[in-house]
Amino acid sequence: MSISFSTEENDEIITTTASIPEDSNEGSLRPKTLREYIGQRKAKDNLEVFINAAKMRREPLDHVLLHGPPGLGKTTLAAVIANEMGVNMRITSGPAIEKPGDLVAMLTNLNEGDILFVDEIHRLNRAYEEILYPAMEDFAIDIIIGKGPSANSIHLDLPHFTLIGATTRSGQLTAPLRDRFGVALRLELYSPKELQQIIERSAGILGVDIEADGAFEIASRSRGTPRIANRLLRRVRDFAMVRANGVITREVANQALLNLEVDELGLDALDRRMLRSIIEFYNGGPVGLDTLAATINEEAVTLEDMYEPYLLQQGFLTRTPRGRCVTRKAYEHLGIEYMGQQQMEI
Ligand code: ADE
Repeated sequence: MSISFSTEENDEIITTTASIPEDSNEGSLRPKTLREYIGQRKAKDNLEVFINAAKMRREPLDHVLLHGPPGLGKTTLAAVIANEMGVNMRITSGPAIEKPGDLVAMLTNLNEGDILFVDEIHRLNRAYEEILYPAMEDFAIDIIIGKGPSANSIHLDLPHFTLIGATTRSGQLTAPLRDRFGVALRLELYSPKELQQIIERSAGILGVDIEADGAFEIASRSRGTPRIANRLLRRVRDFAMVRANGVITREVANQALLNLEVDELGLDALDRRMLRSIIEFYNGGPVGLDTLAATINEEAVTLEDMYEPYLLQQGFLTRTPRGRCVTRKAYEHLGIEYMGQQQMEI
């Protein structure tokens, strides 16, 4: 997926949920244990039971599928699981597996109990998925060496491992692959209160002086996503150092975020452009996703994965069988007069 960070209105979208280079020190902020991991209570409660049960039986954990919008901590949670299980984790991703040999090499290099983390597993080549089926079910693979009449099949036993797959689009997984995960957990957008705790924890690690109100201000504008919360924290810290006395208060956070074009509800320039386009060109909708993407010169997947989850959750956008519609709330937020959308129904 190519992700565009630029819009006509500003050069950089700081609130993209995609990982960008400045997130490279995200690692130091990552929690290591379930106790330290804030939010996602349902997923965490379930995991705690499964991890403890697996440990009591001295067995590896069942295969786990983590799904949900980007930036919510799927990789972080996988690393927490590995840490809690006391095993090593190898990381790869669907698009990184370019040939069957890549996957076979990953599988045969695992040690007993290890976790294999496959990010963006929906992008794994369908033909290679079939290697995973016996690997997940029977901890074995059959490889064919050679071609034609002289071809030989070799049966290889694998260590008992746990596959953790992460995806933003579980609907795109084939049924046979999805069915082989014993545990499927959906990660949800975080509440501002949870994000406030994450920001305060990160500020502590980074040595940033922040007031509770300041943390809450950043939290409410981070579109439910820790990756964005941590990124905004770093930017607001710069602002606090240069323009204030280094302390992140509510006022400092507010000013910094306005400078970054993140509005009081966390919408950025592209969000606003998307909503405004639906209003101006399609009378509020419905408009198909591909048409909308072409209108604003973005990729449909970027809009669907990165932008829609928050706009839907906040009630600015609805999805109908005939396409996307903006709501009255979106008109009001953008300061555009709402005249109803029935005109389109003729
Ligand atoms: N950093 C990123 N995600 C986090 C989470 N869920 N809890 C604590 N710190 C985090």
